This record gives sequence, C-alpha cells and structure tokens, in this order.
Amino acid sequence: MTIKNAIACLLTLTNIALMNAAHAQQKRLVVDADHIIAPIQPTMWGVFFEDINFGADGGLYAELVKNRSFEFTKPLMGWKTGGARLAEGSVLVVKGDNPKNPHYIRVTAADGGLWLTNEGFRGMGIKQDVRYSFSVMYRQTQPGIKLHVTLIDPQGKALGGAGLSPEGMGWQKDTVSFIAGRTEPRASLKLDIEGAGQIDLDMISLFPGDTWKNRPGGLRSDMVQWLADMKPGFIRFPGGCIVEGFNLDNRYQWKKTVGPVEDRQVEINRWNIEFAHRPTPDYFQTHGLGFFEYFQLAEDIGAEPLPILNCGMACQFNSAELAPIDDIAPYIQDALDLVEFANGDTTTTWGKLRASMGHPASFHLHMMGVGNENWGPQYIERLKMFTRALKTRYPDVRLVNSSGTDPEGNRYDFLNDTLRAMHADLIDEHYYRKPEWFFANARRYDNYPRSPSHVFAGEYAAQSDHTVSVDNQNCWLTALSEAAFMTGLERNAAVVSMASYAPLFANADAWQWTPDLIWVNSLQSYGTPDYYVQQLFSLNKGKAVVPLTLDGQSVAGQDSLYATACLDERDLIIKVVNASRAQATRVITVDTRKRLGPGTLTVLQSDDLNAVNSFDQPARVAPREMPFIPKGRTLTLAMRPYSLNVVRVPLQ
Ligand code: AHR
Repeated sequence: MTIKNAIACLLTLTNIALMNAAHAQQKRLVVDADHIIAPIQPTMWGVFFEDINFGADGGLYAELVKNRSFEFTKPLMGWKTGGARLAEGSVLVVKGDNPKNPHYIRVTAADGGLWLTNEGFRGMGIKQDVRYSFSVMYRQTQPGIKLHVTLIDPQGKALGGAGLSPEGMGWQKDTVSFIAGRTEPRASLKLDIEGAGQIDLDMISLFPGDTWKNRPGGLRSDMVQWLADMKPGFIRFPGGCIVEGFNLDNRYQWKKTVGPVEDRQVEINRWNIEFAHRPTPDYFQTHGLGFFEYFQLAEDIGAEPLPILNCGMACQFNSAELAPIDDIAPYIQDALDLVEFANGDTTTTWGKLRASMGHPASFHLHMMGVGNENWGPQYIERLKMFTRALKTRYPDVRLVNSSGTDPEGNRYDFLNDTLRAMHADLIDEHYYRKPEWFFANARRYDNYPRSPSHVFAGEYAAQSDHTVSVDNQNCWLTALSEAAFMTGLERNAAVVSMASYAPLFANADAWQWTPDLIWVNSLQSYGTPDYYVQQLFSLNKGKAVVPLTLDGQSVAGQDSLYATACLDERDLIIKVVNASRAQATRVITVDTRKRLGPGTLTVLQSDDLNAVNSFDQPARVAPREMPFIPKGRTLTLAMRPYSLNVVRVPLQ
C-alpha cells in the first residue's frame, strides 16, 4: 500500500469514528427473530467472471501452451525456433482455408536438428508427479518426421517428456502423456523435430491431468475450488466489457466458443490494448473456455448461470460502435439461440449441439443479461427489441438490464427511471468507489422502491486509490468497507436479489486491473481479504431477513457498527461489522419464542487496515471460527477492532 493510500485509509476511519461519536452511548441491539422482513434470494451472493487479467487463457483454462494454433496477430508469438539444422524456411506459417482456424506451421527437416519451444503464459507451472497430456494436430506431407516433447526448466534441464510418431495422411490428432519429475514454476515446452520429411502442425497443446474433475482439456482445479468454496448463488459470464468488445467485430460471440476447440475462433482480448500502462500484447481468447464450459462450471459449483450478451453496442469508452436498428436481428437471434443451447430439447439445433458436447440435459438457464455497461437512449431502443423477442418466446427467463457505469449521475438517473418504467426484471448497478463510499452507502437501498424492478449489484469493489489505478490494493480496509456495505444489501433483500464482486481473478504476472478477488500465479493462488468477506456472506446467506435494530434503527454506521440478521432453516445468523479501531462489546437481545442453542462465531479481523494477503502469507487476513454460547435470549458479542463477526446459533 502506498503512503497516499495509507493516509486515505486513516482519514476514512477517523471520519467514520467522529461521525459516530454522537451515538456512542446507544448500545441496545435487538433482533426480532420471529418477524420476517423479506426472503433472501438463493442468488443473493454470486461471482462475476471476466477474461481480464489472464483470467481465462493463462488462468482458469488450464491450457499451458500460449498461441497453440498460431492465430495471434504475430503468429509465432510465444514460440521460438532453433537447432543446429535450422535453415531459412524450416518453419513456415501457412494460412489455410479453415476460416475459423486458418494458420498452422509447416516444418521441413532434412535430418532432425530442429526444435520449437513455447514459453507458456509467463512460464508454465509444472507439478512433480502430475501427468501431463500433450496433443497436436498434424498432417504429414512428406512422412518421416518424429516428434519428441520435453518440459524444460529455465536452465534447459528436462522435467519429463515423451515421443510421438506421426501416422497416416490428412489431418490427424495424436496425444501422448508423461509424468513430470519435478515442480517448476517457469517451465517451457520443447518440441524436437527428428528425422527427415515435412509435416504441418496445429493446436499444439499441453494440459495437466489434475484439472477440475480431471476433465481432459479442463479448468485449473485450485481456481475452481476457490469458487466452489464460496457456494455462489450464480456465476455471471463472460464479463464485463469483454462482452461489448472495443468494436462490434471484437464483441463476445458465444457461437464462436462452442463445438470442437480447434474450430473455435481465436479473438484478440479487448484488455490486450486497453491500458497503455499495462500492455499485454500476448492476450488473446482461444475460447477453450467457452459457453459450454461456463454452463458446466455453473452446474459444478451449484450456481445459476448468468450469461451477459452484447446488445448491438460496442464499448462506449472505446469505439462506441452501434449496430443499426435494421441490423439488430442477428444479435437478438444469438440471445434466443442461447436459451435453446442451454435449455433446448436435444432435437433442436442448438440443444443437439449441447448434447453432442456431452450434456444432453438442460443447463437450466433462467436469467440473461442484455448489454454490459451500456447507456443512453440507444441502449433503451435496442433493449426494448431484445426484451420483446425474449419475453415472447421465453417469458420465464429474467432479464438483467444495464444502469451504465456509475451508481449516480445523469446517465444512471435516466436509465434507472426508464428501466423501472419498463418494469425491468433486474437492474445491474456497478460501483467502483473508495472505501468511504461503501461505508456511507450502507443505507443506499433502505428507501428504494421494492418493485417493480430488483437490483443486481453486478460489479463492485472498493478502490483503495482510484479506479484503474495500479496502486489499488486488496487490503483489509477495502474488504471491511465492502462488508459494511453488504450488510445493507442483505438488509434490503426485498429489493436486492443478487450481488457480485468484480473482477474475480488476476494473474499476478499478467494483470491489467486491480483490485481483484483471487490472485494466482502459475502454481499458486490465494484469496484476498475481500474474498473472505464474500465467502462469509455467501456461506451464511440465510433464507429470510429479520430486523436487527439499535434503538429502533437499522444498524448502518451508528457506533461504527453495520449489522444485519437473517434466518436459514435452522439457524439465526447475525453479521456485525465493527469499523472502529476500538474493541466493541455489545449485548444483542433476541426476541423469539424459540430457544437459542450453542453455535459459532466466525471472525475476520486485522488491527492493520493495510493488511493484505499474498502468496507468502495467504491467510494473513482469514476467517477464524470459534464456539459461541448464548445466555438465554441474549448474545454478548465482544468484537475486536476492525472486524467482521458472523454469529450462527440454532433456534430450537
Ligand atoms: O471489472 C472490470 C471492468 O469494470 C468490467 O469489464 C466493466 O464492466 C467495468 O467497467
């Protein structure tokens, strides 16, 4: 954390403490456990996934070879060629006639002495004793070449490898596997060309065997585990601005991401060129993690799938290209076809494709977003056309609509008013703001109209410095401020149906945007303090909100406390944030006809608001659970400074 950030943190908390000094004498907290205010939707706490910060390629998608199909703008980016017999023309990039995957390389050898290496995504993370599966598509034009694949460390020492003898004519796919003898975070793949002949190579690929659910060509298991451990109510994908693209050609098109991986069109990632201060020229989307895999991931982690589709508008911060209204039909058709792909009978065109990919059963799509951070009357005009078509054909699919980029201002006011007048199902609000904003907005929804539209807090993260600053940190202050704000979301579950922190993942060696919920490198991953806040809220979601008051008022800043209470089938769950630097002991009276049993107290805390987690100290700020015993119908809660406290006691 920079000095600037540290001072900002201190000022924030000092202000809050002063603001609340007047309330310091008020101490009576009461939970009315027999009086339900509102149900809490199962979707309340979810996750937002976007391919930003190498979140998909180089992240969740476990492929280790970068530019496996030679489709980057520079077709040999990530690759090196060499060897004693390397000559002009030994390795050529050829453009073939498959429009989805046009490029391959043609290798000509007289007597071996040639090699290619691939550097992976800032080095390949290789684990001892794990089996690696190498695959390649080849076409022998002059048979006689054999291939030998080796994983090597930065000094060129072998970690494991295997040979492959091409057979047959025409394009073929072959796979060999081997076990790595050593762990190495920055390995590369070496492909030795042996013998004499000519061969075309494409889709040169390497996957670890220990993917999530051991699926071939699957996802990185440690990263999925972080999501599964949150038990999220939904997963939003594929973004974010990536949905919009920097222009319409670059927009995310789900149909290009399904079917055999070799036929999924590679697309430049919009974050490749977004920030001059964080250039990532090697950032592309293979779409190996495509819409089928997103739906499958949602199913695996028990989350409702929430795809967001382009509405005929490119990113309004970039080209702001618009599809003319007369040309909008294909965009709407993509949305209609997506419902068929997810839910349709296997006799339908898109349902059949889903079945052919290994999932005949429905993915149970119930929600879809139209547009990401789009705004203005042009958005409304297009949205109305999408809504008419989707609601006519699929009246039960709930639609998420954009309220733009900011939680206030003219654009927001226009969209919020217009969308409510249109009876939008869900309005997506985004808040990238300072921690002070999050503390100050714990009451944002207290007086919001409860109908006709519900709120989806679709992207939020406290910025310790400012939005898109490289100095932003996932420190304990940001997490604590989000926890305070989230008590307000939960208390207002009558209008807030969904919420997700954004962005989700960042590769520490290749990020563009910070803060992020979970950080990874080639071998490790850790959850930030913000992650643990999200996890605690999600694991303690409850089914219905009950009143928790301090002298008759909801608790949103008095005495530096922020609190909410809810019930699930069995338990009363109370979440209290103590944002003061002093310990706070409070007696909470529970009004109920039932008896309170012994339960647990989970505490997320640090005395240091600047504390961060890291690869070396992944659990510096992490939850600690302890037994908690009520006395009759009172709970005495001794809250440590700067803490989130979650009490869970059975009602018997
Ligand atoms: O989360 C990062 C970006 O922030 C998203 O892509 C966009 O929707 C928002 O501006």
